[in-house]
Amino acid sequence: MSSSVPETVRQRVETLRQEIEEHDYLYYVLNRPRISDREYDLLMRELEELEARYPELRSPLSPTQRVGEKLTEGFRTITHAVPMLSISNTYSQAELREFDERVKRLLGLSGDLEYVVELKIDGVAVTVRYEDGALAYGATRGDGFQGDDITANLRTIRSVPLQLPRLGGGRDGRIIEVRGEVYLDYPGFERINRQREAEGEPLFANPRNATAGSLKQLDPAIVAQRPLQTFFYAIGETDYVLPPTHAERLEVLEQLHFRVNPHRSVCRSIEEVIEKTKEWETRRETLDYATDGLVVKVNRVEYWERLGATAKAPRWVVAYKFSAEQAVTTLKEIVCQVGRTGTVTPVAVLEPVFLAGTVVSRATLHNAEEIQRKDIRVGDQVVIEKAGEIIPQVVRVLTELRTGREKPFEFPRNCPCCGSPLLFSEKEVAVRCENASCPDQIKDRLLHFGQRDAMDIEGLGTQLTEQLVAKLGVRRFGDLYRLSREALESLERMGPKSAENLVQAIEASKTRPLWALIFGLGIRHVGLQSAKDLAAHFGSLDALRKASREQLLAVEGIGEIVAESIESFFRNPDNAAMLDDLLACGVRPEEGAGIARRAAQAGAERGPVASPIAGKTFVLTGTLKSMTRSEATQRIEALGGRTSSSVSAKTDYVVVGEEAGSKLEKAHKLGIQTLNEEEFLALLEGKE
Ligand code: IVH
Repeated sequence: MSSSVPETVRQRVETLRQEIEEHDYLYYVLNRPRISDREYDLLMRELEELEARYPELRSPLSPTQRVGEKLTEGFRTITHAVPMLSISNTYSQAELREFDERVKRLLGLSGDLEYVVELKIDGVAVTVRYEDGALAYGATRGDGFQGDDITANLRTIRSVPLQLPRLGGGRDGRIIEVRGEVYLDYPGFERINRQREAEGEPLFANPRNATAGSLKQLDPAIVAQRPLQTFFYAIGETDYVLPPTHAERLEVLEQLHFRVNPHRSVCRSIEEVIEKTKEWETRRETLDYATDGLVVKVNRVEYWERLGATAKAPRWVVAYKFSAEQAVTTLKEIVCQVGRTGTVTPVAVLEPVFLAGTVVSRATLHNAEEIQRKDIRVGDQVVIEKAGEIIPQVVRVLTELRTGREKPFEFPRNCPCCGSPLLFSEKEVAVRCENASCPDQIKDRLLHFGQRDAMDIEGLGTQLTEQLVAKLGVRRFGDLYRLSREALESLERMGPKSAENLVQAIEASKTRPLWALIFGLGIRHVGLQSAKDLAAHFGSLDALRKASREQLLAVEGIGEIVAESIESFFRNPDNAAMLDDLLACGVRPEEGAGIARRAAQAGAERGPVASPIAGKTFVLTGTLKSMTRSEATQRIEALGGRTSSSVSAKTDYVVVGEEAGSKLEKAHKLGIQTLNEEEFLALLEGKE
């Protein structure tokens, strides 16, 4: 071990690694951070610098090495040392009692048997293998016997330990394989979808799809940006010395720093298990991640071997599935919708049916792959369900009800709207129409242009845009500004009053702030935040239009892909003409300083003191009595502040409304100032 690295440096690197791992554990596993983001960043930076200076010290086990290189050859296949079986399902109390009877009969026991009840996490099953305390590899379940080697992606998830602490007491072995679920909580899922929406990418249907899609990425850098979480619940191959019950083994997993779901209970009989199922049927709605049932496991592990498994599933475990609200209806037709960036999405047109409070007549089918996988045909009787309680989905086809007249769906080769050939790319499941003047794209672009966060043209909804394009020949944004009241009155459901209101709303949009216009243009990959960053940086549309790639890249938060997209948008002659036309129509976005100017005006009313809100970052949580969340956001921004959706060390104030949740807890943990509604209003009014 002769080397030029001073012993003090070697020790410091070791200490830093241990400290950072410890802080990752405190933050990502226990949700109890002990230091601020800034302090954490400093430790990380120090370690990075030392590793850069002394390359001999580099190690894949270092927390700096979580995000690795892109995989160029796809995933290797891994054969599981112990197969990853699935679990049989039950749907009723009666079936649970039958399960209990069967287990006791096979074991030759009478009396009550002890069970552990856990949540069934609706994510993606994975296994992680540790050899001599270090992460050796991680894999997907695959077919239960072989899965994909997704080590590089799992390493990016910071609740997955790179190294295990020692248990001591002679309990440690050389090998342990731990199984669990990777998932996204609802806020994380929504964050990903909001970003995809802003970027014109097709949305993920539910958190599980988003998780699966993330883990399939070949670029760990992309995976690292997804807020993936884990819960571990089982052990595969191991030579560790383990306690005799499953409940105690879960505690061992906790001692090994794995994230284990806290909602688990030991039940002394199947009747207690049944009580738990009743409790969770409604309580699950309070969780911020998806569960599709409970998992019931015999607590004593020695019984597991005696019970064994069927071809499909072990006999010592059973899932109890929660009831999802479902309905059966006829799929009448599959139509394809073209979004503003040209993405073509297949949609099922259904015989209208009542489901969980609303009449459902359409369901998203996501993409061609999904239709094929579920073998969905036109004319089928289908089971539909609300995914994540919002968007209706086709769960499965009732193939036993087929008459033979159902027709398989063929994805059109040409755009269903404008007829131009569709682009099927190898790289993504999305199919695109590349014709920028495709009417469906125009409609969706107009809709986006008029939305609240963009040009804020009230009344410019789906039905109106449809008519504007079809009947009044609206093609470009500028056409909106040439609409006369008379022309509008000729449309369906448009009286003189609504026509007048619309004309006024369109007129008022001419002075929307620059960021609103930039966002409204619908440039691919440019979401609301990027639009605001660009407006603040360039200050005028003209400067933005002329910006070079380098200048764009200099804007914080703008990377290669976004810069390229912006550049190609403004280079496009059609877009240039469209913008010149908009300006000729009198659109004068309040240039960059719009926000600052209003802040200054607000300040002027109170004297020359700058608003206490300017430059500050706010997080809103809970419900305010006097205003909606978006009104609160607008008022903060009007005074030069900004809002963020998550609490971090960079947050200045957390505004706490009624029924505030985890953000309040986090604010307390990080010692961030909280404001109740009254204090917040006082601050807005400059009373301090
Ligand atoms: S135990 C052989 N516990 O559900 C038993 N599985 O439908 C090993 N799952 O493949 C699994 N939460 O992906 C277990 N608390 C939990 C679980 C759980 C979710 C998943 C797991 C499994 C699937 C079976």
